[in-house]
Amino acid sequence: MNRIDNFNAGPSALPLSVLQKAQKELLNFQNSGMSVMELSHRSKTYDFVHRKAQELLRELMNIPDTHEVLFLQGGASLQFAMIPYNFLSNDEVGYYSLTGSWSEKALKEAQTIGNAHILNSSKDRTYSYIPSWEDPVDDRCAYVHITSNNTIYGTQWQQFPNTKKPLIADMSSDILSRQLDIEKFDLIYAGAQKNLGPSGVTVVIIRKEFLQKANHNLPTYLSYHTHAEKNSLFNTPPTFAIYMLSLVLEWVKEEGGLSTIEERNERKASMLYDVIDSSNHFYRGHAEGNSRSRMNVTFTLPSAELTKVFLTEAQENGFVGLSGHRSIGGCRASIYNAVSEQSCERLAAFMKKFQHQHG
Ligand SMILES: Cc1ncc(COP(=O)(O)O)c(C=O)c1O
Repeated sequence: MNRIDNFNAGPSALPLSVLQKAQKELLNFQNSGMSVMELSHRSKTYDFVHRKAQELLRELMNIPDTHEVLFLQGGASLQFAMIPYNFLSNDEVGYYSLTGSWSEKALKEAQTIGNAHILNSSKDRTYSYIPSWEDPVDDRCAYVHITSNNTIYGTQWQQFPNTKKPLIADMSSDILSRQLDIEKFDLIYAGAQKNLGPSGVTVVIIRKEFLQKANHNLPTYLSYHTHAEKNSLFNTPPTFAIYMLSLVLEWVKEEGGLSTIEERNERKASMLYDVIDSSNHFYRGHAEGNSRSRMNVTFTLPSAELTKVFLTEAQENGFVGLSGHRSIGGCRASIYNAVSEQSCERLAAFMKKFQHQHG
């Protein structure tokens, strides 16, 4: 089978066995005589899929009963708005840790809705590091918001802040990539299209106590209460995306769960960072050492021309998705869960060969 080495930033690679299972079941899901896409979202057969995805996510991420699991739509981008709508009343303030373009977007959106301030920032060095933490001293602080992995700049929180304030995290690009203490978080959200499945479903994990504080006077869809009360079946959910999520979660379980996935992700990232670090500055990593992402490895070459040649030759050699985000250029290898160690080995070997030829 001709599968390419896919380093896309999202939507991104899915496990081959998941795609094959979906293909096998596509026309006749569990002897229903229908595709899963054709099932009523109120049917027993779909309900099984829905619950299975919720249960597997709970099991794999060790989500305690104190937290609710929701499946929403609108991507992480809608969460940028839902969070302030639900949790910022007139006199309250949301505090945002600015670590890249996505946290800038989250802050900007919150500022159109209520009071939102910058807590700390790494913009002074083009978002190449995770800034140090101090809790806001403001009594009006309703929550603090972080972006756990900065998809564009390639930085990642290695340790989460010890905060007394409600902690909200955009985990779009590293959810399910490592073990987590869910208890630390009041709300976690993530678009599915990197580690969880195809685009179309957004996972929200919210502490029930925190949910109690959410605003009730909102348009129905924008209220977290709606989705929690209706078990994410208030309106038609993205049934196919949730089905794919359940298959991806099954795959993670079969692979050995999050501890195995985490170790594998560490090995994959090391392969690429080792090439960068031993390249005598031919490859220059964007992220500073202790802030490096295990999901998005960002780097440049000595000149813009050479970066272009690298990207062209990479494409010719069967590596896709290595261009950096259009806002910063350079190169980026996104190595989410479904990108195999073999793909990373091949890329590492290609990078060494390229340096040998052009260095
Ligand atoms: C960290 C992060 N947050 C938010 C988003 C936006 O997600 P969506 O397209 O699901 O709205 C992305 C997309 O790449 C992302 O990487």
